[in-house]
Amino acid sequence: MPTQEARGTAVISGLGSWLPSRVVDNHELSQRLDTSDEWIRTRTGIAQRHVVAPGESTVDLAVEAGKRALASAGVDRVDLVLLATATPDQLCPGSAPQVAARLGMNGVGALDVNAVCSGFVYALATGAGLISGGVASSVLVIGADTFTTMIDPEDRGTVPIFGDGAGAVVLRSGSADEPGALGPFDLHSDGELAELLWITAGGSKKRQSDDPSEFFLTMQGQAVFRHACARMAESSRAVLERAGLTVSDVDRFVGHQANIRILQGCAKQLGLAADAVVANIEHTGNTSAASIPLALADAARAGDLIPGHRVLLSAFGAGLTWGSTVLTWPNLTPA
Ligand code: UT7
Repeated sequence: MPTQEARGTAVISGLGSWLPSRVVDNHELSQRLDTSDEWIRTRTGIAQRHVVAPGESTVDLAVEAGKRALASAGVDRVDLVLLATATPDQLCPGSAPQVAARLGMNGVGALDVNAVCSGFVYALATGAGLISGGVASSVLVIGADTFTTMIDPEDRGTVPIFGDGAGAVVLRSGSADEPGALGPFDLHSDGELAELLWITAGGSKKRQSDDPSEFFLTMQGQAVFRHACARMAESSRAVLERAGLTVSDVDRFVGHQANIRILQGCAKQLGLAADAVVANIEHTGNTSAASIPLALADAARAGDLIPGHRVLLSAFGAGLTWGSTVLTWPNLTPA
């Protein structure tokens, strides 16, 4: 653990991502569900998603993304592993300790952060706070989810949207004025609307159920859609104001990849140029906590995100939860 002198601002120093190898495209889905490639593309912007194989789990994906983020940062160890996930391998214990052990870091602090699709932004905030508080001088923050294991395979309301994946960053202690330094955070929740995106059974409230559908994720899509646009726009404005910036300072908007129309609607509400919107949802679907680091890695690899760009990150998800942060993109090579 670091000494008091090691306190500083959290700076992103590495980035990695990983997708399971099996790809399911819209044509394959429309052979077994009452849907079509045209409907899914038009209403969501998704053409395909990656899906875990039987037995492949969130920990497996998190380990691969984490390994790549460590390599990208040029380190083989950190003080703490934070795993943002709502689909841990087991209900108990959390999955982060298993990820740390498989990354060769058995013994380091390790903690799951469950804020569902907002989990990566919440885990970044947690890691940044632990660095600035002097608790850790380096943190591996992984977003990994396998929601395809939690949805009803017959439900055309959720199956077309979700995909599996993982993305990760390494945070190190640095100074607030260097590229990669995480700016202020804006975090919120509304537990009164929890049932808009919800799994009824399996937790302590209802361990067993005779109704198998109660173990699957249910989503009131239209209501979630409206909240996602409005809350991400509000939170983006709040974080920019806290950072002393305006919308015109933003080069890239990396929002949670839930639906291309949500990203475009949010950008419109903010007054952002359409080409500032980073979107990889077409080939990943909604990967929940993995979506922002996956989008960052894809955009950086494609040269659409370059050192010096001012990047606004904003997420929204079940809980409800939402939050944002802002940073200047550092010089790094995603792995
Ligand atoms: O990760 C964070 C949480 N998740 C989200 O942010 C997701 C937010 N919600 C959404 O992205 C959208 O609400 C959906 C993609 C889930 C649904 O899109 P929509 O434009 O809100 O569709 P809708 O539910 O209003 O349905 C429109 C029509 C309906 O038919 P009628 O009543 O107009 O005849 C639905 O029955 O589309 C029909 N429909 C479908 N048709 C073909 C609904 N799902 C499908 C489908 N294929 N998969």
